[in-house]
Amino acid sequence: MTLTAERLTSPELEAIETASIDELRNTQLKRLRWSLKHAYDNVPHYRRRFDDAGIHPGDITRLEDLARLPFTTKADLRDNYPFGMLATPMSDVVRIHASSGTTGQPTVVGYTQNDIDTWADVVARSIRAAGGSRNDKIHVAYGYGLFTGGLGAHYGAERLGCAVIPMSGGQTEKQVQLIRDFGPEIIMVTPSYMLTLADEIERQGIDPRTLPLRTGIFGAEPWTDCMRENLERRLGIDALDIYGLSEVMGPGVGMECLETKDGPTLWEDHFYPEIIDPVSGEVLPDGEYGELVFTTLTKEAMPVIRYRTRDLTRLLPGTARPMRRIDKITGRSDDMLIIRGVNVFPTQIEEQLLKINALSPHYEIEVRRDGNLDMVLVRVEAANDDIALDPSACDRLQNELRHAIKTHIGISTDIEVCSRDQVMRSVGKARRVKDLR
Ligand code: DLL
Repeated sequence: MTLTAERLTSPELEAIETASIDELRNTQLKRLRWSLKHAYDNVPHYRRRFDDAGIHPGDITRLEDLARLPFTTKADLRDNYPFGMLATPMSDVVRIHASSGTTGQPTVVGYTQNDIDTWADVVARSIRAAGGSRNDKIHVAYGYGLFTGGLGAHYGAERLGCAVIPMSGGQTEKQVQLIRDFGPEIIMVTPSYMLTLADEIERQGIDPRTLPLRTGIFGAEPWTDCMRENLERRLGIDALDIYGLSEVMGPGVGMECLETKDGPTLWEDHFYPEIIDPVSGEVLPDGEYGELVFTTLTKEAMPVIRYRTRDLTRLLPGTARPMRRIDKITGRSDDMLIIRGVNVFPTQIEEQLLKINALSPHYEIEVRRDGNLDMVLVRVEAANDDIALDPSACDRLQNELRHAIKTHIGISTDIEVCSRDQVMRSVGKARRVKDLR
């Protein structure tokens, strides 16, 4: 199943990237049946769940039959901590990653050598979809280690034949020095850490638009199209969205194509998507918003069947490729704030504040309870300190943002426009919400 390096270093697409929908569905069905049997035969958890539901993998004869199978949740992975979800003996596992999570046990995932190869293939395919080639140098500023971002990006970039600069996260000044000295054409990093890097580039007296940097492959956290415009304008690059999660693989489950920039194309030949109603669990038709669910089609060490990502989005028809796309992720269901009965995602606030040119993209949201009332404070840095030091300008901006949030989102907020460096900077995934309730 693994593609040769020569195949991927050619600028053409892989055959499956241009296959007809029928061919793709056939491949998916064949692989799905293998994956279900593999999970049932080798993971006691799946065997129990399928038996309890009265379904045998052999009963699944169409892709739609998948809806008859039970979901897998993060809690299932935790209950089987650390290695209970593995479908292969440890002797076949060559890599273990874990996602920290905010509470409790980490979620553990394992990979066979074939899994690592598939992962490198889909990340190479992703970088190619972003216009990258073996001629490019890629600066990887996703964290290396148990987090899948750094090593996932790294192996994919190498597979494509790029020159990888394995910088990892942190050491911001040094990152910028290397970006200046080595002149990478592509950077892979979270969009929030890219903002931190952009500030540092400017602090060192450089106009980021004069650097050789051409493309940013940004992901691992939700970010809006307004943030895309902001990063593209400021850095003079194309900013593209890469999606993924450790439980399913890592980065490279989906990637936005350069020619359309219309949301990540899901690499459906390896990861079968569904959108469900997060409350009823019912499968929703393409185009409707709900929770994204994945079934892996080729993973050996840790297949996941109907894994509930908690990411909210919708499935859209293919454009640059026949495979389906997802819309930009609005947020995770667990990041949703309920403010006086209104559901709010941080990305909605980001969208409003980035429409105001005199504000920077550095913001945080604090939620408190005052008596019975939820109080929201949005703290945002002004675009420059001249603005921050002018009380009447700040007043005007505060009113403008408060009004925009009230009109478009429907909640009352307090706004604090502050000067540079008052908002904590990200070195990986941003933590923008402080919920003090
Ligand atoms: O964040 C994998 C990754 C690394 C993806 C680098 C892209 C780039 P986890 O730490 O397991 O894995 O977190 C997965 O991050 O369920 C989403 O909630 C969020 N996420 C990942 N990519 C995006 C994105 C990596 N492009 C969780 N847009 C996922 C929005 C994203 N959210």
